[in-house]
Amino acid sequence: MDQANARWAFNASKWTPTFEQIMAASSYIQPEEKQRISKYVFQDDAKSSLIGRLMLRKFVHTTTLLEYQNISFGRDGRGKPYLIGTGDITVNFNVSHQGDYVVLGGSEGKNIGIDLMKIEPPANKNIPEFFRIMRRQFSDHEWKTIYSYFKESEQIACFYRMWCLKESYVKNIGLGITVALNEISFNVKSELKVGEITMDTKLYVRNCLKENWFFEETFIDDKHAVAVSYEDDNGQRNPLTYKFLSYDDLVKEAKPLVAPDAEFANNFVQKKVKPQ
Ligand SMILES: CC(C)(COP(=O)(O)OP(=O)(O)OC[C@H]1O[C@@H](n2cnc3c(N)ncnc32)[C@H](O)[C@@H]1OP(=O)(O)O)[C@@H](O)C(=O)NCCC(=O)NCCS
Repeated sequence: MDQANARWAFNASKWTPTFEQIMAASSYIQPEEKQRISKYVFQDDAKSSLIGRLMLRKFVHTTTLLEYQNISFGRDGRGKPYLIGTGDITVNFNVSHQGDYVVLGGSEGKNIGIDLMKIEPPANKNIPEFFRIMRRQFSDHEWKTIYSYFKESEQIACFYRMWCLKESYVKNIGLGITVALNEISFNVKSELKVGEITMDTKLYVRNCLKENWFFEETFIDDKHAVAVSYEDDNGQRNPLTYKFLSYDDLVKEAKPLVAPDAEFANNFVQKKVKPQ
């Protein structure tokens, strides 16, 4: 296998797709993926989901050398995508799309979870009210960490960092999660910085340190936090930095699975863009 450990990012907000690009993309993905993407009201969400699916295909193709036509994804009972019918190929991946970016974490063998959050004040709520609603999702220790910051802008940044960590763990475990979210508690040390990977966060589940769990965190830019989780009995791996992909990078080697779908492409380009 080649390049089985990957961290990729795509700035979806900077990509304005053409009808021709969507026509081509419609031939690279499975019918159920098209159906799901077509249901989004806003083009921003459809775009991010589409990019996520193209990323998954590129990742599987480049790491396993499987032909595009032989790459097929299913979803488990909770919705996590997996590669169908590949025998002993043990490649794992997860994507997240939120705010301006889509990210992918890929791993050879072990499960992986990734989560991305745009750091912005909650819509239609003040921050104390928002935190009150979220109270039960985080542990006392996590709230103490969030409130250790004086400014609300720093509190919200810390909140979303914790959120990413928690979701990266939940998305990794998938079906196996049996504990309440506030019993999954993170102890963060270093501050996050754009372009630097932080690896010293510790996970406690029901107050028990999970020594074999590792978290790679960074800021993709000054508004987006991201966390990747993996479990490894052999210890921590070298942290990976994010590679920023262009649309051409994503589809360079893509081959059609099905004929281009004009109905899908028309529906896609006519979707509304979210008001800023
Ligand atoms: C299902 C869930 C994991 C998806 O996460 P999300 O933040 O809404 O969305 P993200 O952008 O991070 O990820 C979406 C992608 O992850 C993948 N995905 C979907 N369900 C998944 C799951 N159960 N586990 C892992 N990955 C999943 C898919 O590729 C999906 O993209 P697609 O549907 O376009 O193909 C999340 O909604 C959830 O149920 N979390 C439970 C825990 C919780 O409530 N946390 C609150 C904050 S602490």
